[in-house]
Amino acid sequence: MKKITVLGGSPLNGEITVSGSKNAALPIIFSCILTKGVSEIENLPDIGDVRSALSILREMGAAVRRSGDVTYIDTSSLTYVTPSERLVSSIRASTYLLGSCLSRFGRCDLMPFGGCAFASRPIDLHLSACKSFGAQLRRGSLASDGLCGANIDLSLPSVGATVNAILLAASAKGESRIGGCAVEPHIDALIAFLNSCGADIKRQDREIFVKGRRLHGGKIRVIGDYVEAGSYLVASLILGGDLSVRGCPTEDMSAVLDALRLLGAEIDIRGDCIRARLEGKSRRFKITAEPYPGFPTDLQPIFAPLMARFSGGEIEDTVWPTRFGYLKPLSSFGVDSAVFGSRAIVYPSRPLPAVCNAPDLRGGFSCLMLALLAEGESVISSADIILRGYADLEEKLSAVGAHIKIKNN
Ligand code: EPZ
Repeated sequence: MKKITVLGGSPLNGEITVSGSKNAALPIIFSCILTKGVSEIENLPDIGDVRSALSILREMGAAVRRSGDVTYIDTSSLTYVTPSERLVSSIRASTYLLGSCLSRFGRCDLMPFGGCAFASRPIDLHLSACKSFGAQLRRGSLASDGLCGANIDLSLPSVGATVNAILLAASAKGESRIGGCAVEPHIDALIAFLNSCGADIKRQDREIFVKGRRLHGGKIRVIGDYVEAGSYLVASLILGGDLSVRGCPTEDMSAVLDALRLLGAEIDIRGDCIRARLEGKSRRFKITAEPYPGFPTDLQPIFAPLMARFSGGEIEDTVWPTRFGYLKPLSSFGVDSAVFGSRAIVYPSRPLPAVCNAPDLRGGFSCLMLALLAEGESVISSADIILRGYADLEEKLSAVGAHIKIKNN
């Protein structure tokens, strides 16, 4: 396992470029299982989760090679093998094996799918989608002798269940409709990629219409990661200095930028480059995490240190109502907070250096914010979990003035 050692107290000055979106890259990688041919994926982020997903495809016989900023994935000849549990249990995106393997091979073993353990991660909506398209559950495995188009309505706008429903419908026989779907930018990215593979998929608001097709290799450039972009904008406000964040999918960030304005920050947008500055008085504010286009749940843990740094605030999460475990390690950095059900109150707090374990991906980044702020040396262990979602973390932060070192424990 890796640990991050930080000497806090330095402002950030310069420019950080965000990498490709983790939550867009992962569905695209697993959707290659549906296709026969070579796909070209540009701007894949070099993060732990992507490396794990590519390793799972290699276990099935995919040929993967990277040349510059393009990753070529050849899925011409794949055979179904039960992927290694170590890989499957390390990422939540391994749930996408359900839709992709049922479509390609007519089978998929149920395995201990992974994902950050900040809440229970059920898959009931995924399984009911699989059954709606004709799969049966037999002795711990899903099997089908040919998926048929279906007309389904998701009871929750689940990102993962929407991804799997698309993967099931894309090459099923006949037409499908998926109602009540998630509309995150990474859903549209997956649709764009599959359509480049010969699919016929259209989204109208929260309904997706699909005509099943045989799919060949496709081509896409992965969109910028709005969670990473938001994370570095928050870092620039917490630590001060003058930081520009480049490569932002600005059009996907309205709720995030509006939340920063509630604090009192001024947001300067020039194309895909954003700067956030707090010149006037900060304000206490509230954020409510909701399905897109609402405020993203993945950024609520990172807004907690922002509130602690300034005038405090309130966080409600309607997606993961219990996603406040990160407040415990944050308290070792001096953050004072209280949780009431699906709401947390964060009080203005004086930061202290500390030693802690990264609780999960976004909570780990949240702890890193406090470590970078507090004068003195802090250490965050189990840091691999942060590197699952933040590419070139040490390089990006060191280049703008942070004193950070990532080493094996
Ligand atoms: C995806 O997780 C993201 N992960 C998460 O990001 C993100 O927090 C989440 O979407 C919401 O935006 C990836 O894309 C790899 P959901 P997912 O299905 O698909 C309930 C990060 O930090 N639900 O949209 O697992 C569930 O309990 C990660 O990058 C069911 O009840 O999330 C939750 O309350 C963390 N049954 C809600 O739906 C199901 O079968 C939303 O979950 C599935 C979900």
